[in-house]
Amino acid sequence: MPHLTWTGFWVLGDKHSLFRDGTEAVPYRFKSCPTVTPLPHPASRTPRSLRSIMRERLSVPFFSLLQETGELAERRRVSVYAVGGFVRDLLLGIPNVDLDLVVEGHGIRFAKDLARQYKARVTPHERFGTATVTFPDGHTFDIATARSESYDAPAALPRVRRGSIKEDLCRRDFTINTLAIRLNAPRFGELVDHHGGRRDLKDKTIRVLHGLSFVDDPTRVFRAIRFEQRLGFHLHRDTAVLLTETAKMGLVRSLSPSRLSGELLHVLSEREPGKTLARLADFNLLHFIHAQLKWSAGLARLLDTVKQAITWHAGLSLGRLASPWVVYAMALLDVLPHPAVQETLARLTFPRRHTQSLLWVSQESARLLQTLDRTAKPSEMFRALCNLPDETLVFLMAKARSTQGKQNISDQITTYRRVGSILNGNDLKAMGLKPGPLYNRILDRLLDARVDGTVETEANERRLVRRMVK
Ligand code: CTP
Repeated sequence: MPHLTWTGFWVLGDKHSLFRDGTEAVPYRFKSCPTVTPLPHPASRTPRSLRSIMRERLSVPFFSLLQETGELAERRRVSVYAVGGFVRDLLLGIPNVDLDLVVEGHGIRFAKDLARQYKARVTPHERFGTATVTFPDGHTFDIATARSESYDAPAALPRVRRGSIKEDLCRRDFTINTLAIRLNAPRFGELVDHHGGRRDLKDKTIRVLHGLSFVDDPTRVFRAIRFEQRLGFHLHRDTAVLLTETAKMGLVRSLSPSRLSGELLHVLSEREPGKTLARLADFNLLHFIHAQLKWSAGLARLLDTVKQAITWHAGLSLGRLASPWVVYAMALLDVLPHPAVQETLARLTFPRRHTQSLLWVSQESARLLQTLDRTAKPSEMFRALCNLPDETLVFLMAKARSTQGKQNISDQITTYRRVGSILNGNDLKAMGLKPGPLYNRILDRLLDARVDGTVETEANERRLVRRMVK
């Protein structure tokens, strides 16, 4: 069997392909792949320096750090490149300091050298030839060894070997993510553009590098749509055809639960997940999350209301919501019956505490919302809401229909949660009370009284305690 590169495989027109999901390799017969128009090759081969753009758009310390990284690379006789999203966003003028570096040479060794120079911490991942360097200010660089992947035979695992930057860029998802910037001192800032990425950035186009890109890695269907919606780009015609075919063939179904969960989490973490989810629905991709999951005007409205509720929460200056994506996940699952939500969450590998919140919302929120619609003692509302995480409260805010319901949730977030009694366990001890379960009852009662405004001073609290133990 000849040693074929992945793209070469396609060029040879073989009817077999490989489907890869993580480390597994599964033979896959490629039934109806659309014809792919050969990509017109690079826009420009003339090196272009991005030095002045970098100086203009990066902070002074970050720019210097990149320059010094390039100087170190030169001393160590390796070539180092900034790649991927960092370069794409730099050219688009979008702030992004998530830096991925590719080293032509030994990536981990270079990472260790860099870490030594800056008293940074290095976490090597020997199996993948990558390392993360964490600088004292918390900033990180992900450093990888440039590599190429090739296949001995269909259904074989890819053979990974060290390669050139050109080979490394060849195995990437979209042309706009194949741009690299050389950091080595003499040619610092030189743009590497082998696939017309700069042209596609200008034309606002998402385009795969070859016809098997989505088969190589079906997570790319989500990525394509995410970038399209995030950047306001469009899918190139051929790429849209390939994406449609990949969706029809159900390749997404073969993704491992953790990879599917990762993609869904990325989608829900976008600034406007509603737009991305609507587009996924256009390509019939929602049913891979759950067979019953369908796009509807109601879901669109709910996602929009969730966005407004998140904006409202951000305006309260109480600190950022830790995981806004969870609120969008609550909205997405809201259209499913509870057993379907259970099935979905059993398959997805979201963090446990979020899974629990999602299950709770699916089962309990309708009932709780009815309670919230009532006018009741503040302490009653406080007790109903006090154990819920912020994400759940924000979702309830989005779902609440009545003014009273919204007011109750708002009071909880802005006021009641900040209330505390003056007396604590030590004070109760000093009052001669024997420690035990009674303490909790008393402290809860004090808190309720504070929320209701029936006690205001320490003296009021002491009086209430004495009444309780009389
Ligand atoms: N990549 C790829 N195929 C994937 C995932 C990633 O080719 N399925 C490549 C792309 O070149 C991408 C790079 O790996 O630019 C880094 O991946 P990631 O950090 O996920 O992408 P970013 O482009 O940085 O996206 P984001 O802005 O969402 O972080």
